[in-house]
Amino acid sequence: MFSSIAPRYDLLNRLMSLGVDQSWRKTATQLALQNRPASVLDVATGTADFALMLKKALPSVQVTGSDFVPAMLEVGRLKAKQQHIDITLEEGDALNLPYADNSFDALTCAFGFRNFANYERGLQEFHRVLKPGGRAVILEFPPPQPGFFGMLVRFYFRTVLPTLGSLVSGKKNAYTYLPESIMAFPEPEKLRRMMEEAGFSTSYQVLSFGLAAVHVGVKR
Ligand SMILES: C[S@@+](CC[C@H](N)C(=O)[O-])C[C@H]1O[C@@H](n2cnc3c(N)ncnc32)[C@H](O)[C@@H]1O
Repeated sequence: MFSSIAPRYDLLNRLMSLGVDQSWRKTATQLALQNRPASVLDVATGTADFALMLKKALPSVQVTGSDFVPAMLEVGRLKAKQQHIDITLEEGDALNLPYADNSFDALTCAFGFRNFANYERGLQEFHRVLKPGGRAVILEFPPPQPGFFGMLVRFYFRTVLPTLGSLVSGKKNAYTYLPESIMAFPEPEKLRRMMEEAGFSTSYQVLSFGLAAVHVGVKR
């Protein structure tokens, strides 16, 4: 699915969120770089928006972006080249990361975690490749809350977004899958508990009235 939407992925992100997705990544970037890490792994990096932002914010950090869809990585490599930014982008499955234990000072994952076939396994892998004291920052869409605003958000996800997505990408299924995956995603408090169980000390904040949430886990 991600291979088929790769060429239009960035455009759709900006259109569907009216550019707010970049402000969420900025907040997550500040949290990830708080302790001035020497190395960061951006898991499910896609077209590398987050990986590039991390490198621009802290040029001394060594950034590796990992994703299992080559077409997304290709778009990311082109962007890095055009912007003259030196990051490494390589293929890897988040559920079986091709890195040794205790390899990275920080790990980020924006809008990728929700797609994993097994959340516990993903968290175990995040924990394994981080150095002790290293921080994992997960940015995701929690399910919409009850009430009027949540109702509007559900309407947007179920009706507006699939229509816009299929018009711009030409792929209908990709943007019906997105709302389904958001509705099925754990509430922020549940994800926080899952991170604790995986061996992290946790905190989180909700962004834009609950449209997104950013979780921070420090490896115990
Ligand atoms: C919605 S995109 C997010 C991309 C990017 N992080 C961003 O902020 O725009 C989700 C990405 O997760 C990747 N992905 C999903 N499951 C994965 C897995 N198990 N291993 C590696 N990448 C995965 C997809 O290939 C896709 O590029």
